[in-house]
Amino acid sequence: MTEHRLTELEHHDIELMVAGVLPLYLSLPGDDAPAPTLCLPFSPGSVGDEVTLLDREATPVARVTVAAVVPDAHGWWVAGAVQMLRPLHAFAYATLRPGEGTAVDGPATLYTGDVDPLPEPDRAVIVVDHGDPRALARAVTVATQAASAVRVLPEPSAAHLAGEARVSLLASLAREAFDIEELDVVASERSVGDGMVILLTGLSGSGKSTIAKELAERLRATVEQHVTLLDGDEVRAMLSKGLGFNREDRLLNVQRIGWVGALVAEHGGIAIAAPIAPYEEMRAEMRARVEKVGRFVLIHVATPLEVCEARDRKGLYAKARAGEIKEFTGISDPYDEPTNADLVITEDLSPAQAAEAIISTLRLEGR
Ligand code: ADX
Repeated sequence: MTEHRLTELEHHDIELMVAGVLPLYLSLPGDDAPAPTLCLPFSPGSVGDEVTLLDREATPVARVTVAAVVPDAHGWWVAGAVQMLRPLHAFAYATLRPGEGTAVDGPATLYTGDVDPLPEPDRAVIVVDHGDPRALARAVTVATQAASAVRVLPEPSAAHLAGEARVSLLASLAREAFDIEELDVVASERSVGDGMVILLTGLSGSGKSTIAKELAERLRATVEQHVTLLDGDEVRAMLSKGLGFNREDRLLNVQRIGWVGALVAEHGGIAIAAPIAPYEEMRAEMRARVEKVGRFVLIHVATPLEVCEARDRKGLYAKARAGEIKEFTGISDPYDEPTNADLVITEDLSPAQAAEAIISTLRLEGR
């Protein structure tokens, strides 16, 4: 038996199934039915006869009887009938979401992104829940100012759809969910909040922590947003205590930092993270996670290995050379040089100059 923890948008799929808007059946992306689909991340072994779907608290909420499994670059696509095991937890704005008594009389406009410009007063407005609670609250508030009625359409995961195909899926779901005959669609862009994560990556001893501290101090003096510092060594003493430096532990460490950083960004804050973050894969994953809720800025503190090693403030490079520390970044473990950094800090800059250069890169004016 395979277990799968539902993402926020996959929760929406189940919500739409329970409301009778989507069939209690998962299709493969190539099938005629555009949704729902389910793609499980790759894991060793194969998908069994059943997949148990877990909610955010790891409670089993539904079971899939697997009829077909198709792997591709995304993961395992699973088809099969879905059976509910227990009700889902409540979603925000429950009374405005698909379900009993939420049919809309008269014409409606679906906004697939931000509600902008303001809708006409005699129409109902359907806003989309993209899984970002702040954006949803904002959209509902704006729509309520003008619309004759407001409804919330949960965005399905439909990971295989983008662009126009996604917009047309949302439109057909809106019609079905709220029994709408006359529907206009404003295919607007969705703006993310002004929260952000600034990741300073570089070798041990490159000066990341010093620059991060300087940057935090300067940002606190310039912006209203809360600034949170997630320093590499501090994280390892607490959030990632017990983890080592093999590939798996490093991935987990940086994943945890990304998770906390994204949470800070989601709530409108600025997180400055300064782990080595040596692998491209972990930085890409952090970027993907953060960009769902805010901005991701990558800074490469590019102090060369020779300089870091000559400084060797903690004496770790000497130990690594002597073979006393294994898998040491730059000596016996790789550091993938970033090719997509927003800014590269060279060693000739003082920490104050580096912090200023980063602040210029952020272009905070007018926000
Ligand atoms: S990361 O690779 O997982 O991003 P992180 O920034 O948290 O690394 O921790 C790096 C710090 O741990 C270094 O600054 C150094 O003080 C210490 N350290 C201990 N062992 C190692 C090692 N094998 N490789 C790199 N840093 C190490």
